[in-house]
Amino acid sequence: MDKKTFYITTPIYYPSGKFHIGTAFTTVAADTMARYKKMKGFDTRFLTGLDEHGQKIEELAKKNNKEPQEYVDEMAKMAKDLWKMMEIENDDFIRTTEERHTKIAQNIFDKFMEQGDIYKGKYKGLYCMPCETYYTESQLVDGKCPDCGREVKLMEEEAYFFNMKKYEQKLIKFYEDNPEFLQPEFRKQEMLNNFIKPGLEDLCVSRTSFKWGIPVKKDPKHVIYVWVDALTNYITALGYGSSDDTLFKKYWPADVQIVGKDIVRFHAIYWPIFLMALKLPLPKKIYAHGFIMMKDGKMSKSKGNVIYPETLISRYGLDAVKYFLLRELPYGQDGVFSPEGFVERFNSDLCNDLGNLLNRTIAMCNKYFDGIVPAYNGKLNEPDSDLEDYAIKQIEKMQENIEELKLDTSLEEIWKLISRTNKYIDETTPWTLAKEENKEKLASVIYHLIENLRRIGIALRPFMKNTSSKILKQIGIMDENVNFDNMDKYPNIKEGTKVIEKGEPLFMRLDAEKEIEYIKEQMKNN
Ligand code: ME8
Ligand code: MG
Repeated sequence: MDKKTFYITTPIYYPSGKFHIGTAFTTVAADTMARYKKMKGFDTRFLTGLDEHGQKIEELAKKNNKEPQEYVDEMAKMAKDLWKMMEIENDDFIRTTEERHTKIAQNIFDKFMEQGDIYKGKYKGLYCMPCETYYTESQLVDGKCPDCGREVKLMEEEAYFFNMKKYEQKLIKFYEDNPEFLQPEFRKQEMLNNFIKPGLEDLCVSRTSFKWGIPVKKDPKHVIYVWVDALTNYITALGYGSSDDTLFKKYWPADVQIVGKDIVRFHAIYWPIFLMALKLPLPKKIYAHGFIMMKDGKMSKSKGNVIYPETLISRYGLDAVKYFLLRELPYGQDGVFSPEGFVERFNSDLCNDLGNLLNRTIAMCNKYFDGIVPAYNGKLNEPDSDLEDYAIKQIEKMQENIEELKLDTSLEEIWKLISRTNKYIDETTPWTLAKEENKEKLASVIYHLIENLRRIGIALRPFMKNTSSKILKQIGIMDENVNFDNMDKYPNIKEGTKVIEKGEPLFMRLDAEKEIEYIKEQMKNN
């Protein structure tokens, strides 16, 4: 039988500057899901990429004395280097300037025109001549251009529009029939109440006021404007409409499309409508996550509160950064990055809870059993039975949560198991059992500790691959084939398994004051 497929995407980001930890969060979240699904035996495909057209990019290139293509080529390298450094396992990287995309996006636009979904009209707006940008009333600052502060003029230009109203009823029906489509639930209410039910507005899909875009085939003074270009990446990357659409047939519709809360509307309204117009199936799920905020609000260069992933990774390691991001952003809600919070999570969760459990266990296994994991001999200690039940339940909960994209609570369930296992050491006091020469009971303690560390190592794998491998290696488990099988029973560890002679700390405790200062300094320098 063919393996079940799992297709997951991130937004394609604008290459308008270095990516900060916010952008990194979305990509890490998608990567974690893809890794988990792979472990569960799915044939997964994970797509990310760049949204390279538009006026803003055109301007940025000019500012840098570059041709737009040259500029986006450099930015694409930056993005790919970052994802490589972060060990992101994307299967493809789509750039909207690639021919595989531009050709098909043009054809899609054409098709919409032929079907009468797109009509020619007039785009009206407040225009800043020097910045060559339209603004809405509410974007203006004191009635002037928010960028340069100069006067804006009411202008209009010929533009194509997509007739959203035509699909309004179909979209409402789709939402009724597919209550799980948009997650979390409150986003769905937001979309329905604020945008869909009051009546959809038609969407402007072309511009003549700038050049850096995909020309409309039948009317080349227009370039395709933003969302028809950007959203279709999710299918052009699979070869939709090309001579080889094998991947499209295999992976579409997407299982999960992860986006930030800023672009929910485009993914929850326009995207489904474009797909309806193309008579294609809709994605199974759109998940909108919240934003990583700073204590003083949004991350922005002018506030001097931006933090880049490279800064943290080079000093604290990849896994610590991934752990913080995934743990700190509550499902669907905003989360806060603070140097204090980061250092606290590092010292308390990673060093104390996880690191110490591994260290103590390895040390005791060496001291009492010459490093050979004793054979399972039942539930001889009072808490053994409770511990086993708890561990089985926690791994189930961890999986239930990650299946629903609740990455923060999924990690929390793992940490509960870590805490419970630490507590088990205090309950059984193995040093007393050793003194009493109670070898059987002592064997049971050490066995249970190693077995739980194995479970913890496996559960952590989609989130923190390197840490998972280090844990498993130290307890003598080869990690090529670790998976979630047999998590509902004991025992699992082969007889004669040998732990490492001298454990190595997973994470080195940070000098909190010093590191908080360091991170603050880095933020100021950005
Ligand atoms: O909107 N916290 O690109 P974009 C969490 N090109 N996530 C954040 C974040 C933060 N502080 N800041 C950004 C675009 N993100 C379009 C998308 S898709 C067809 C086209 C993440 O570069 C989050 O995923 O502005 C958000 O949706 C995305 O970056 C916006 O990226
Ligand atoms: Mg944006």
